[in-house]
Amino acid sequence: MLRPLNVADYRELARRRLPRGVFEYVDRGTEDEVGLRALRTALDAVRFAPRVLRDVSALDLSTEVFGRRQPLPVIAAPTAMAGLLWHDGEVQLARAARDAGIPFCISTQSTTSIEDIAAGAPGAELWFQLYVWQNRTLTGELLARVRAAGASTLVLTVDTPASPKKEWNVRNGFGVPIAPSLRGGIDVALHPRWLLRVLLRRALASGLPTYAHYPEAFKTRITRAAAAPDLRLAANVTWDELRALRRQWPGRLVLKGILRADDAQQALDCGADGIVVSSHGGRNLDGAPAPIDVLPAIADRVGTKITVLADSGVRRGSDIAKYLARGARAVMLGRALLYGTAVAGTAGASDVLAILRDELERTLAFVGQPCAAALSAADLGDPPGVSSSRGG
Ligand SMILES: Cc1cc2nc3c(=O)[nH]c(=O)nc-3n(C[C@H](O)[C@H](O)[C@H](O)COP(=O)(O)O)c2cc1C
Repeated sequence: MLRPLNVADYRELARRRLPRGVFEYVDRGTEDEVGLRALRTALDAVRFAPRVLRDVSALDLSTEVFGRRQPLPVIAAPTAMAGLLWHDGEVQLARAARDAGIPFCISTQSTTSIEDIAAGAPGAELWFQLYVWQNRTLTGELLARVRAAGASTLVLTVDTPASPKKEWNVRNGFGVPIAPSLRGGIDVALHPRWLLRVLLRRALASGLPTYAHYPEAFKTRITRAAAAPDLRLAANVTWDELRALRRQWPGRLVLKGILRADDAQQALDCGADGIVVSSHGGRNLDGAPAPIDVLPAIADRVGTKITVLADSGVRRGSDIAKYLARGARAVMLGRALLYGTAVAGTAGASDVLAILRDELERTLAFVGQPCAAALSAADLGDPPGVSSSRGG
């Protein structure tokens, strides 16, 4: 392949470069991957209702998220362990986001700490994604650290009360945390460039990759079998705890993983500033609905009162347009940016953003809607009854 022309090309290059276990960790879904396939089917089923003879010579792709205008309606989604894709992967990704003027959401499970990402990508707009640990004291300490590091927005992920069943992870010998296995060892040995440039480089600089936000006393290498019970993800987080978190966290609070209008309403009632309509990229509940399908009902219910974001399955600029038209204010990008990072660090992630920007521009022109933020149900060929309203 001479030059990657789209996200699928980046995915293929990433597949060749990464050990199979790492690539599958990024790329795949859970159980039978029904939810993962449903994302594509649902996005492909959305059709535009193009208008002709409109002046589309000046396109506006900008949007406002929490009072801040950004040139592209996208946000870098929180993704665990991007540091396994490229040396300093999270910093590389944060720089690409900064250069594009979009927020970068750091994962609780990143291999680089929020402090190091802030230092490595000065000027980046940093959000932080929180997984609540079983030990709430330690979770509180993490929050204080996140606040001190200057994160503007806290994204509480609410769709992971259990560990997803990823059978391929077991088979390819690359479970997370990584358990040493013969198969995994052979896989890594077959990818010497990754071994040298990513794993060994990191190991020499700062030791083997770890979950960087885990407290020192508990920090286990990713190569250890399991996280300490204190740091397992809590299965008993409820709306009451959300209300307490709302009192504790002074910044913006976003709930990620909402798929029902009544839950969106509860989020609003509990004082959340925003939600992400998301199926976690088809990585958690295999029977989850496609966010694009449930988004209109959710946006209709709360879209004028809180900020509605969405993600899962975006591989083309037209997918971004579809999410916006169905009621999202901006869209989070997970794998698309990770493929780019795996191929060329910041340059790869930046190129993926440039490709998506170009595709979004073309889509707007074809649809006859010069302004991305103005996309609405009227730009889609949806049957009556599927609508959306944006606001907040
Ligand atoms: C490798 C990988 C790791 C992820 N880690 C997290 C995480 O730590 N926290 C979280 O809330 N979501 C996580 N996600 C989900 C993303 O934030 C996002 O919801 C999803 O990737 C969107 O789908 P897409 O990859 O099709 O764009 C992860 C996704 C991937 C691909």
